[in-house]
Amino acid sequence: MSTKTPWWIRIPLLFFLVFGLMEYFIDSGDKPAIIAYPITQFFMLLVLLILIAIELILRSIENVMFQTLSEEAKERYLLAKNKKTEWKWANNVYERLTRSKAIEREGEIIMDHNYDGIRELDNVLPPWWVYMFYVTIFFGVIYLVRFHIAGDYDQDLEYEQEVAAARLAIEEYKKTAKDLVDVNTVVFLADASDLSAGEKIFNTNCVACHMADGGGGIGPNLTDDHWILGGGIKNVFNTISEGGRDGKVMVARKQSLKPAEKEQVARYVLTLVGTTPTSPKEPEGEIWIDPDAKTTPKETMPPVEQEKDSTDLVMNGY
Ligand code: HEC
Repeated sequence: MSTKTPWWIRIPLLFFLVFGLMEYFIDSGDKPAIIAYPITQFFMLLVLLILIAIELILRSIENVMFQTLSEEAKERYLLAKNKKTEWKWANNVYERLTRSKAIEREGEIIMDHNYDGIRELDNVLPPWWVYMFYVTIFFGVIYLVRFHIAGDYDQDLEYEQEVAAARLAIEEYKKTAKDLVDVNTVVFLADASDLSAGEKIFNTNCVACHMADGGGGIGPNLTDDHWILGGGIKNVFNTISEGGRDGKVMVARKQSLKPAEKEQVARYVLTLVGTTPTSPKEPEGEIWIDPDAKTTPKETMPPVEQEKDSTDLVMNGY
């Protein structure tokens, strides 16, 4: 009945073995399975309870068997059980790596001299230490050849590679975390889904003042080349974020709209530029010239839906 390893090693060992196997076999992407699938936490708790239960059952079986033994056998059993677990193999390794002398055998290595009763032992260098020294020499030779003779790469190159890799990682990350955009990183979204999302946001939040076709009412006309607060994706994003000038009813929407939503609706607003609304408000502000593109935003824009325009043209009698 007696087992060599004590329970406080056996239970954690088996527990982490099961845990490791679970993590290995359950495909949970980047996250560990225990976080990705909370049910596994319950499973691991169950495993722990079962391990403890097995341990308890073994104990009681041992107890019952013990009671059936004769007095003499009981004594022998206890003797065998209480013998300290011997870690022969580990002890051997330890002795080889340290070559420490047992205190009783110090006489063999004591040196002749004696200074006021202080004697010296002639211990060997501990082998673990010597091995490490060999490893550093080996490392040094390889390092010398690689970096001073072959010139494999230098710190500058390593730095640049790491920065480039990090930049790529940031780009990747931004793709999944759209809400990181701010006025400096906002871009002109090309996705049709972003555009229709922007249209929805515009229709629920903005038409009251700007009209569905952007022709303007309480708010200015968004379809012309004239902008009070600046055109282009960055300025429009900023206006939506921070609102209009003091005293204007165009309120800041940095709280009520998520950054990605502001990016989408700004994108939609820019598609209105160049269209012909039914009752356009007079242009206000300056003609906006995009300093980056050196063209008006109209020209930098992909073609907008033409349906609205053609009906307008008919209605206007052209
Ligand atoms: C309560 C009325 C109101 C609502 C709602 C409103 N706006 Fe405005 N908007 C205004 C007014 C008024 C201005 C002019 C601000 C100024 O002159 O500083 C303006 C200005 C703007 C401008 C700048 C125009 C320019 O010429 O520079 C943009 C872009 C804009 N609004 C977009 C939006 C978007 C997008 C929404 C919806 C999320 C929205 N607005 C909702 C009233 C409104």
